Amino acid sequence: MKFKRHTVTAALPYANGPVHIGHLAGCYLPADIYVRYLRSKGEDVKFICGSDEHGVPITIKAKKEGITPQQVVDKYHKMMGDAFKEFGVSFDIYSRTSSKTHHETASAFFKTLYDKKVFVEEVTEQYFDEKANQFLADRYIVGTCPKCSNENAYGDQCEKCGSTLNATDLINPKSTLSGEKPVLKNTKNWFLPLDKMQPQIESFIDSHKDWKTNVYGQCKSWLNAGLQPRAMTRDLDWGVKVPVEGAEGKVLYVWFDAPIGYISATKDLTKDWELYWKDKETKLVHFIGKDNIVFHCIIFPAMLMAEGSFILPENVPANEFLNLEGDKISTSRNWAVWLHEYLLEFKDKQDVLRYTLCANAPETKDNDFTWKDFQAKNNNELVAILGNFINRTLVLTHKYYDGKVPVAAEYTKSDILLLEEISKFPAKIAASIEHYRFREALGELMNLARLGNKYLADNEPWILIKTDEKRVQTIMNLSLQISANLSVLMEPFLPFTSAKLGNMLNLNAGFKWNDATRTDLLLAGHQISTAALLFEKVEDETIVAQVQKLANSKMMNEVENTAIEPAKPETSFDDFSKMDIRIGTIIVAEKVPKTDKLLKLLIDTGIDKRTVVSGIAGSYKPEDIIGQQVSILVNLAPRKIKGIESQGMILMAENSKGELSFVAPTRADMENGGAVK
Ligand code: 2FM
Ligand code: ZN
Repeated sequence: MKFKRHTVTAALPYANGPVHIGHLAGCYLPADIYVRYLRSKGEDVKFICGSDEHGVPITIKAKKEGITPQQVVDKYHKMMGDAFKEFGVSFDIYSRTSSKTHHETASAFFKTLYDKKVFVEEVTEQYFDEKANQFLADRYIVGTCPKCSNENAYGDQCEKCGSTLNATDLINPKSTLSGEKPVLKNTKNWFLPLDKMQPQIESFIDSHKDWKTNVYGQCKSWLNAGLQPRAMTRDLDWGVKVPVEGAEGKVLYVWFDAPIGYISATKDLTKDWELYWKDKETKLVHFIGKDNIVFHCIIFPAMLMAEGSFILPENVPANEFLNLEGDKISTSRNWAVWLHEYLLEFKDKQDVLRYTLCANAPETKDNDFTWKDFQAKNNNELVAILGNFINRTLVLTHKYYDGKVPVAAEYTKSDILLLEEISKFPAKIAASIEHYRFREALGELMNLARLGNKYLADNEPWILIKTDEKRVQTIMNLSLQISANLSVLMEPFLPFTSAKLGNMLNLNAGFKWNDATRTDLLLAGHQISTAALLFEKVEDETIVAQVQKLANSKMMNEVENTAIEPAKPETSFDDFSKMDIRIGTIIVAEKVPKTDKLLKLLIDTGIDKRTVVSGIAGSYKPEDIIGQQVSILVNLAPRKIKGIESQGMILMAENSKGELSFVAPTRADMENGGAVK
């Protein structure tokens, strides 16, 4: 079906930190390429984005920095918007969910569903932190993942194994606000009955078997597991207030309000917003990262279906994740390439990053960004292929014709074949873009530059100029046409370079995608401007500096994570002297049955031989420690541990990873019973 117009959204990023390369590669760059292409095709398109300013990530950041959530979002909304602009991400609007329009729109949307009796009201038990006196959002609860035993899983998700969780699934839950064990307390919330809506949602998903395998597959696995009702309200004070009676102290679930942000942003952009959201001839496409799939493919469509007057997404081309130098990108560990920092270090090289990220986009699987690859892509592709072709063409045009496009004489057979070949590129690249295969599209664009390079290399105008000036005119005319076509076709991928090349060629800025099928964009006699290099080599030392910067951040991180406990309060020498610590030797060691950590030791203390139960099985095997000298506190009152009387305690040192080491003499001639003082 041919659509009359397009609404393209890019996930609203949480306004809790600056933008990094993972954001750009995952969602904003592909969306921008897609939109720029549509515009070049002359399509009617609105490109929508903005900051997601609600939700727990914001309140967590505010707590951490000791400022208000509003201060957090004000700071990052500006920073993120600026970074997108600097990198040429050409949103028609970059809005924010704290705006008045958004609060009104989200609130009215909820009220409509409420009035239509879509929601199921239910009193459920939620975790409550008695010390902090508040209900706990899922992200404020950590505990052990029931699926993979990761001890730092969140109440909604385990980042280690990727499982989606309920807070009540966690083993040993702990509030991150107070560190206390939370208690379950009753609270009323409004649920979207996804279970009842499953048939509708299923038939919607089944009508989109053409979606990317990763997206369709994830939807099917949710559906196969059976959809569950999901609360659309939360007991929090930061967000859009729930606009119904009896909902004091509650706000809309951030995943209810955020996607409505696309609609409210469109409202702020144009009075015709309804055409872009309600007309069946509008194609709605959501660009997102893979962690957002369920929200955009199931929950938001379910909300739109329940409301009744909106169109549903035609496609949700989610990308996988981009890693950095073999490790997951992480804001908290400062393991990232931040866009604002990149710009300071690589001034005017936005397109190099756009190129690298697109060529390496995590379209079908997670992918890795490395600085070495960045250098190779710049030096071996942008400089050596694209830049080289353009530079040779422009320099020779100035040299032979004072910068005037020469008249093409007669075409040879190979010229005609070349012309045919060139005219196919717009359709080839378009097909890849329309199927959301941006890497493939970029590869085709580079093939056009390769074709140009080969044409110059095969025909050697710099040699032919001595013998056949006429032929050289045709060669240079054709090379200039390829350059003009490249300028048009590269625009979605490399907008800054396209503009620079367009200026150098003095190219009519009105040329659109389909004009690139022609080979007469530059007429004979047309004057081109001064040639300048499109790209510069990136030197080894630049890359070494970036790798070093990352290594520093890893080191800083390790230092910060080595939490050294503060010193205990002062004690007196008398108190210390009360402790009778001796050198002893382990003479028997065995595991305490049914425990993971405990060993039962028989120790020769010099005074006697006694049993001690010690929690060292995680660090030592029994057979390895027979004969090991230890320091033992011999006058500690006996304690029963797992039914065994432990008569003392051996001293152990512990490192930041929780690994233990005996505190033992470093000389071989220290006898058992010798005092430690
Ligand atoms: O994952 C995120 O960063 C979310 N803030 C994305 C929201 S997308 C949309 F629904 F607004
Ligand atoms: Zn897990």
